[in-house]
Amino acid sequence: MNKAKKISVLISGRGSNLKSLIDHQGTYDITHVVSDRGDAGGLNLAREAGIPSTIVSRNEFGSIADFKSAILRTVQTSKPDLVALAGFMVLLPPEFIDAFNGRLLNVHPSLLPRFPGLDTHQRALAAGDTRHGCTVHFVDHGVDTGPLIAQSSVAITPGDTSDTLAARVLQREHELYPAMVSLVATGDIILDGRKVHYSDRAMSESRRIGCSLFFKRTV
Ligand code: GRF
Repeated sequence: MNKAKKISVLISGRGSNLKSLIDHQGTYDITHVVSDRGDAGGLNLAREAGIPSTIVSRNEFGSIADFKSAILRTVQTSKPDLVALAGFMVLLPPEFIDAFNGRLLNVHPSLLPRFPGLDTHQRALAAGDTRHGCTVHFVDHGVDTGPLIAQSSVAITPGDTSDTLAARVLQREHELYPAMVSLVATGDIILDGRKVHYSDRAMSESRRIGCSLFFKRTV
């Protein structure tokens, strides 16, 4: 059995995806949690799980560039194999994206390329969409863009509010994200240029959890 890959998880808030990643460790080990906010709920989850965490706060730095460089330096201290963004609200600088190209993942609460950015559930309802969901993707230089890895969708029902919809999508996030992080950790999903390649195991795992894969798709 190959050694578990080391992962750093970056958060800004409550950390429910962090919790799900913690609960599914095995092929990967979360060795560091980094937050830009000292009051992020996810920091308590890291503490309870015995995972070291670091706060890199915007107000400790004179310029936004210094702040962002400090995030990169902080993440590099634990030499992670992979970096997983889990509700991290800071737009990462190009040096960060380039340093972790093919090793940097994000989960986003919409079926990208629909609704990048914020308020995705409200926007899906307002658009009259019949389906909504979440996406796991490799991160590139844009906002919520990059080669798509997988999506999991839910039906929007007539009584849905953005809260009920968010709760249903979040359940899917909690299943999809650890599964995809694990498959990237084992090398069953790899990024080659802008293309994502999947092993047979990745394809059978995606059938098991009922998500869609993207063979040549990039947003
Ligand atoms: C999730 O909906 C995730 O998709 C988005 O930010 C939210 C973070 O929630 N990127 P949590 O902090 O993981 O609970």
